[in-house]
Amino acid sequence: MLSHQLAPGTVLRALEPWHAEEFSAHMDRAREHIRPWVGPSFVADGVEAARGTLSKYARASAEDGGRLIGIWLNEILVGGVMFVAFDAKRRTAELGCWLEPSAQGNGLITRSCQFLIDWAFNQRGIHRIEWHCRATNVRSAATAERLGMTLDGTMRQAWQLEDGFDDTQIWALLARDAPVRGLSNS
Ligand SMILES: CC(C)(COP(=O)(O)OP(=O)(O)OC[C@H]1O[C@@H](n2cnc3c(N)ncnc32)[C@H](O)[C@@H]1OP(=O)(O)O)[C@@H](O)C(=O)NCCC(=O)NCCS
Repeated sequence: MLSHQLAPGTVLRALEPWHAEEFSAHMDRAREHIRPWVGPSFVADGVEAARGTLSKYARASAEDGGRLIGIWLNEILVGGVMFVAFDAKRRTAELGCWLEPSAQGNGLITRSCQFLIDWAFNQRGIHRIEWHCRATNVRSAATAERLGMTLDGTMRQAWQLEDGFDDTQIWALLARDAPVRGLSNS
């Protein structure tokens, strides 16, 4: 998938190392909003750090592992969805996401995730997709629920913070429970 129009003016594209400057500028708008909820390496500062993040995912993607998909709204990069992990052999994957604050509240993440879920289940034979979030991340948990995921459990104190730990919720969707949308056929 090189690019997919989600809605008029909204495009999903593979987010690659050559987007480093654009990703860095986007991170400057998103960093403080997402910092409490994502891993510390994802919010690294500056173009070279941005290139490092994008290169890490590009290498994983080249090996059919994790991958990053950016969301462009009117040609501005406003966030993205990713396979944090993707294991075609074990038929499992983990989804993640983020947005800059101005793009929240419009269903961009729900619809982008639906596209990736559809691709993983129907094009790639994935059986189970997980979603991990801090137990205090209300918007993230709401997204998992909106996607039809089930809260499988809570891992106590599994999310490391600078000054302690938070619980990690594990949500999951099984292929048999997902509606067939045919989104990734186009
Ligand atoms: C998690 C995060 C990406 C969710 O963003 P979001 O805007 O709530 O999610 P969506 O883009 O799916 O939008 C859902 C909202 O749009 C509304 N919406 C409008 N049109 C919609 C549509 N077609 N489909 C679904 N929702 C729609 C929903 O009702 C919901 O409204 P609400 O704001 O009143 O709850 C965002 O809060 C974020 O970036 N947080 C920080 C980083 C983070 O936590 N990442 C996840 C780590 S586990």
